[in-house]
Parts: sequence; structure tokens; C-alpha cells
Amino acid sequence: MGKTHACWLIAGVCQEQNRKCLVLDLDKQGNISTSLLPNFDGSVGTDAFFNPAIDADLSALVRKTTFSCIDVIPGSFSLERYNLTDPAQWKSSGLVESLVDPLRELSVSYDYILLDCPADISLITYAALCASDFLMIPLEAAQWGALGTQHILKTYEHVRDQYHSGLKLLGLVVNRFKRKRKYQTAYLKQLQERFGSDAFETVIPDLSTYEQAVTDRIPVNLHSPHSHASHVAREFFVELERRAERLRAVRDDRRRGRIREPVGAVA
Ligand SMILES: Nc1ncnc2c1ncn2[C@@H]1O[C@H](COP(=O)(O)OP(=O)(O)OP(=O)(O)O)[C@@H](O)[C@H]1O
Ligand SMILES: [Mg+2]
Repeated sequence: MGKTHACWLIAGVCQEQNRKCLVLDLDKQGNISTSLLPNFDGSVGTDAFFNPAIDADLSALVRKTTFSCIDVIPGSFSLERYNLTDPAQWKSSGLVESLVDPLRELSVSYDYILLDCPADISLITYAALCASDFLMIPLEAAQWGALGTQHILKTYEHVRDQYHSGLKLLGLVVNRFKRKRKYQTAYLKQLQERFGSDAFETVIPDLSTYEQAVTDRIPVNLHSPHSHASHVAREFFVELERRAERLRAVRDDRRRGRIREPVGAVA
């Protein structure tokens, strides 16, 4: 669907624009960790947040990368044991708010903290949502992409209602779009109608330039700065910032009482 790729693109634009970003790899596959830290040995990383037996200093978990503006807390197979998908199991684990305090502490040092979530909706996903300001959902313009989206939207609503009323949906972004495939164009139109302003206007095409940059372990904006792929990545970032600003402004207006909260609805 492009979760990891979206983090990779955003981190690349951050580097280009001299904005500090931290990537939290919450996926046991550790894909973005391997791209950013080619020599990563699989030692302690984001698993430390869930394991009370690990008493690691936050600063010791953060690794520098060869990109001056991109830091990472890597993910490894040790996350597997926290991939609890049964709600009864993760609720009783007492770990769902494990990321809240560490992220609050880390946020003072970064413009962006990006949480790359695993494919399964599990304790890790819930913990990520509980500690985030925004949720962004990348999806493919295809039947299975849309099905996965329904699950994550339900999860989002659950977290917002039960744990974290400040969580906002930044939007859904279509990735790997192939314009020549007619069904994808039809699907894109349907998605935009269905989700309205929750759908990003930016659509990320399926391009070999993206794959090449991933293979070469260099964010596309640094790898091929003048390419169409980089241009789209910048547009994506501009829209992301615009959306975040708008949602923050609405939140601040609500706090100041300028907008009355609609009764019975959660914004
Ligand atoms: N727009 C794109 N154009 C070309 N290749 C892409 C694009 N987006 C993603 N990819 C490639 O598709 C593959 C899957 O993408 P990605 O790893 O981002 O998905 P994911 O949602 O993180 O998957 P998982 O659920 O397994 O973590 C990767 O090899 C990535 O480099
Ligand atoms: Mg991934």
C-alpha cells in the first residue's frame, strides 16, 4: 500500500528542506531501518518502548543516519511479540499508551516524527495512534487497498473515541497509481467521491524512479532531484503541511470556543 514508502518520501523532503525528522520503525520487517542504517545489527530499537525489562535511555535509542536531518529508531524482529492482534490480548497487556510519553519527550527535538506501522492492525498500531497527532493512510486504487482502509478507519475511530480525542485524520493518499489502467482511474474517482476532502489531491504515481531510489538507499529528492517523482514528493509534502496546519487551526479555534462542537459528533 505504501506506508513505508510514504515515510521514506516525507523523510527525503525533510532532508532537502533542512527540517529535522525522526522515523520510528514499528514494523518487524525493519525495511526503512535497513534503508537508513545499512549496517543495523538488529539490536534494541522501538521494541524497547514495549518491553518494561529494557531500561534504555531515549537518546541511546535514536540513531543518526548518513542524512543530517533524518534520525531513526530502528525496528527489528523483536517487535514480533507485540504484534498482538486480538483486542482482548492487547488491552490486557497494558501497553497501548507506551509510546505517548517517549514521543512527547522526543517531539521537542524534531519538526516531524514519522511512525511506520506494520501491515497487521495490532497493539503496535493502536499504540502508534494513541501517541500521534495525525493519521495518514496510503492506499492503492484497487479493491484490496480499499478493503484495508476500512479496517484502519475503524481502528482510527476506536482510538479517537476511547483513548485520544485529539487524533486527526490527515487524509488518504493514493499511491502506486497507474494512469494507463482504466480501472485505477475509475477507482480513484470513486475514492475521491467517497472520502471527499479526506482524500489527498496529490496522487503518487507508480514510478521506477521511486524503486530505484529505494534500491540505492537514497531518498528520491536527493537521488533524482529534477525527476517527476521528486516533484510529486514535494507536492505531497506541501499538501501534507497544508492539511496539518488547517486541522491544527480548527483544533485551536475549538479550544478558544470560536467553533461550537457539534453535539453528538466527534470532530
Ligand atoms: N509509488 C511507488 N512507485 C514505485 N514503487 C513503489 C511506490 N510505492 C511503493 N513502492 C514499492 O512498493 C513496495 C511496497 O511498498 P511499501 O513497503 O511502502 O508498502 P507497505 O505498506 O509499507 O507494506 P507492508 O505492509 O509490508 O509494510 C516497496 O518495494 C516500495 O519501494
Ligand atoms: Mg511497510
